[in-house]
Amino acid sequence: MKNNTNTRFTSAFEEDVYTGLTSYPKHLSSKYFYDKKGDKLFQEIMNLPEYYLTNCEYNIFKTNTQEIADAFAGANGFDLIELGAGDGKKTKLLLRYLADKKINFDYLPVDISQNALDKLQESLKKELPSVSVKPQQGTYFKTLERLADYNTRKKVILVLGSNIGNLLHKDAINFLRQIQEAMSPDDMLFMGFDQKKNPQTILDAYNDPTGVTAAFNKNVLERINIEMDGNFDLDSFIHWETYNPETGTAKSFLVSKEKQTVTIKNLDLTVNFDAWESIHTEISQKYDDTVVEWLASQADLKVINSFTDEKDYYKNYIFRKK
Ligand code: AVI
Repeated sequence: MKNNTNTRFTSAFEEDVYTGLTSYPKHLSSKYFYDKKGDKLFQEIMNLPEYYLTNCEYNIFKTNTQEIADAFAGANGFDLIELGAGDGKKTKLLLRYLADKKINFDYLPVDISQNALDKLQESLKKELPSVSVKPQQGTYFKTLERLADYNTRKKVILVLGSNIGNLLHKDAINFLRQIQEAMSPDDMLFMGFDQKKNPQTILDAYNDPTGVTAAFNKNVLERINIEMDGNFDLDSFIHWETYNPETGTAKSFLVSKEKQTVTIKNLDLTVNFDAWESIHTEISQKYDDTVVEWLASQADLKVINSFTDEKDYYKNYIFRKK
């Protein structure tokens, strides 16, 4: 596709940047936070004391390992498919338990990044050599389609980290629907959903004093500078977080501290910012049981069990086909 000045877009990223920065209000998608530097910053976020999500989910796995493993294990063994496996820190708790109990299963981590999969496989080889690991490189959907009739035995699909929260409800339903379509009646989906809570706790999680979250948010501008020959001055934008307790939506913005003009050479694009004009970059949706049940039913799934941490900050739900 071409823009107004007949520049051909060489990637979806370029096209989305063009659309987002020529829209009013301006927006850029958080999916573009993640390159090598963005992945590293996200790892740092997961270790921040304010970013409670990772610890809560880790504790849910730690406290309920046996019950979760029992729910997953089928008579003929099962395939454990993890969408967006990352470093596998939480999953390893479960893998260790399953391996110790000599339960018959394969672990299929799915990731777009071969590098992330290689690292995970390497660490599993060292820490849990008896686990059969079958990494799947590709997008979630392509991989799910392929795995739909991969095996005749039970599939358990893991989606952790409240990753679904970065999608608007409409897109979340589509995501759940695509998973549902890849499932057989006995299969299970195990998914993490960050819960509504004291708004201050949520704001703090996305606004750490060390500025790691701000750097993560600004990484999309840095990527534009590097990959599209842009000249964003990162210091002239501030990271701003909001949380609406009525809708449960946390939103991240980058706000221009001054009136300024940015050029993005590869897009033949000049972008004007008024002082204090915003770019919306991310949503991190917070949920309650009613909303999760509604999303599930819209995708022809039903909740069959759930696990929470001691503060009820975070919940993992098990879903089946309706
Ligand atoms: C990956 N995702 C669920 C994180 C979240 O909580 O929305 C990304 C993140 N953004 C800022 N901090 C963490």
